[in-house]
Amino acid sequence: MKIIGTGSAIAEKVVTNDMLAEFLDTSDEWITQRTGIKSRHVISHEELEDLGVKAATAALEMSGLQAADIDFLICSNVMNEYITPNLGSIIAWKMGMRCPSIDVNAACPGFIYALDIAENRWLAGKAKNILIVCAEEPTRMCDWKDRSTSVLFGDGAGAVVLTGGDNIKGTKLAAQPAPDKIWERRTLEPTPFITKAEMNVPMQMKGRDVFRFAVGASTTEVEALLKEIGMTKDQVSYYMIHQANLRIIDAIKNYLGEPERKFPVNLSDHGNSSSASCPILLDECNRKGMFKPGDILVFSAFGAGLLSGAAVVEW
Ligand code: COA
Repeated sequence: MKIIGTGSAIAEKVVTNDMLAEFLDTSDEWITQRTGIKSRHVISHEELEDLGVKAATAALEMSGLQAADIDFLICSNVMNEYITPNLGSIIAWKMGMRCPSIDVNAACPGFIYALDIAENRWLAGKAKNILIVCAEEPTRMCDWKDRSTSVLFGDGAGAVVLTGGDNIKGTKLAAQPAPDKIWERRTLEPTPFITKAEMNVPMQMKGRDVFRFAVGASTTEVEALLKEIGMTKDQVSYYMIHQANLRIIDAIKNYLGEPERKFPVNLSDHGNSSSASCPILLDECNRKGMFKPGDILVFSAFGAGLLSGAAVVEW
């Protein structure tokens, strides 16, 4: 497939590190040094699906296609207020679309999982034009009394429209299942038959383990994927790395031995917006006119699962 439109939408409310330091035992200095994040956008009055619709509408407008031209919608999302229907159906309904949709919950690498599914559906002849919307609200998953997680996240949506083409050069999905590294549990409605003890636990994360996993998975997958498709690092124009932490991105850059100019970042004023982070970064760079036809973009993302993935896309 080929990406012919990008869009993004972020929550209005900006929360700075200083604002967090008013109710958490933290400081702008600590958060900036350990993560590179200065502020983040946090959902307050908005509905997540409306951010998804806004991002998707912007991507559609850029693509020149109409909503009716889309024949499959993939929505990447970890948590939203609806258990059912899927968030994709809600976004499709609000946009007047009638195509089938699926939600993918692959945490932060969700955009890459969605690209992989889109490419394979297209290769199977099942769809011509596909819309991917990554809409995430991780700030609703954290314990806002836990300074080790709540300072990291921000909310938003990113979208791309894909049509037939030979521009997705390769995708690689990977996993090192370890659900104890990032997890959260919600107590469901009891039935008359439930006898087991259930727990309501906000997001838990083993930060150092996740950091090590992120750097190892990203560098391994980027190098393996480039080798698999017969490309070299000097052909890569940009590395679009999941915007979790500047220190993670720096470590990946240093390991790959690639120059800083190839690593666009926007996390200082977004924080980690889970699977929305890659398509938001893509849209921001695209709208600044950074990409020219033929540029090679390498996406790499990692997160809960532990899941990770990489994709090579020719612009
Ligand atoms: N402000 C001030 N101090 C904080 C803090 C905060 N926001 N968060 C944690 N600390 C404290 C800890 O309590 C600990 O204190 P102690 O030494 O008295 O016990 C100290 O800072 C060091 O904590 P540690 O967790 O070892 O710090 P770290 O250098 O590993 O940085 C992360 C913590 C979370 C920033 C880092 O591990 C990280 O970014 N990991 C990856 C997380 C991530 O990106 N997850 C999403 C991936 S999709």
